[in-house]
Amino acid sequence: MSEAILRLRDAAFQYEDADARAVDGVSLDVAPGEFLAILGRNGSGKSTLARLLNALLIPSAGSVEVDGIEVSEQRAYDVRERCGMVFQNPDNQIVATVVEEDCAFGLENRGVPSKEIRRRVDEALREVGMLDRALASPSMLSGGQKQRIAIAGVLAMRPKIIVFDESTAMLDPVGRKDVFGLARRVNREEGVTVVWITHFMEEAVQADRVVVMDKGKIELEGTPREVFSNVTEVLSLGLDVPEMMKLSRDLRGAGLEIPLDVLTVDEMAEVLGKWQA
Ligand SMILES: Nc1ncnc2c1ncn2[C@@H]1O[C@H](COP(=O)(O)OP(=O)(O)OP(=O)(O)O)[C@@H](O)[C@H]1O
Ligand SMILES: [Mg+2]
Repeated sequence: MSEAILRLRDAAFQYEDADARAVDGVSLDVAPGEFLAILGRNGSGKSTLARLLNALLIPSAGSVEVDGIEVSEQRAYDVRERCGMVFQNPDNQIVATVVEEDCAFGLENRGVPSKEIRRRVDEALREVGMLDRALASPSMLSGGQKQRIAIAGVLAMRPKIIVFDESTAMLDPVGRKDVFGLARRVNREEGVTVVWITHFMEEAVQADRVVVMDKGKIELEGTPREVFSNVTEVLSLGLDVPEMMKLSRDLRGAGLEIPLDVLTVDEMAEVLGKWQA
């Protein structure tokens, strides 16, 4: 196996005024090119963990390594260059009044030459399907389109890793699918390592691996099938089970011999197709 691109060892973080650690001894390796989903009820520490990966917070104990660089105040700049972040609210991420200027913002801050900025911004906007809106005002765009612009801004920095912290939470179902699909494509086609924090089980089932957090710790970890087959535990951690698992339970109740671990719509279609034949 190749070296982990994210390596956490007993990583912990406690906010100043808090009486408990928000992240409490997390050890985790993420492989280059992996699509990792992080789940967990409200307040379980997901966003705090995300901020550690981006050096927005520095671990108060243990270590976090991003592409070989240990997260610290001194290396924050290098860490952010390698690990980009897309947040929940698209409105809070847009800084300029013209789409292409917004995308160029990070590169300008880093003093990238303007010709190179032009090239990278065009490429990133094309990648997210927004090149034709380069001169538009972000305020005229839908939530999903704004998230795509935010993603383009991150892609233009060419990070090896992108952390999405509930980036689909404020979108309608179409925007949600669109933004999730984009993250998957960037992962598959560009090899960008993705950490996808979500409350949507339908997204988590499509990840390579799922981590469930509770009270700042990792409580479950494995492939989506491994994790979601612990139905009782998943429910007790404040999560839901994927829709297709509920449907297979109901269909079994109705007398159809459907396996209990059907996770995705595609799998269900295949099972039902076979059953019908
Ligand atoms: N700035 C802060 N100051 C003090 N405590 C904080 C701060 N931000 C978060 N916390 C606390 O840290 C814990 C973890 O919060 P965090 O935001 O990481 O959870 P989360 O899993 O992202 O939750 P959500 O699903 O609601 O986004 C919670 O108890 C929260 O109240
Ligand atoms: Mg959060």
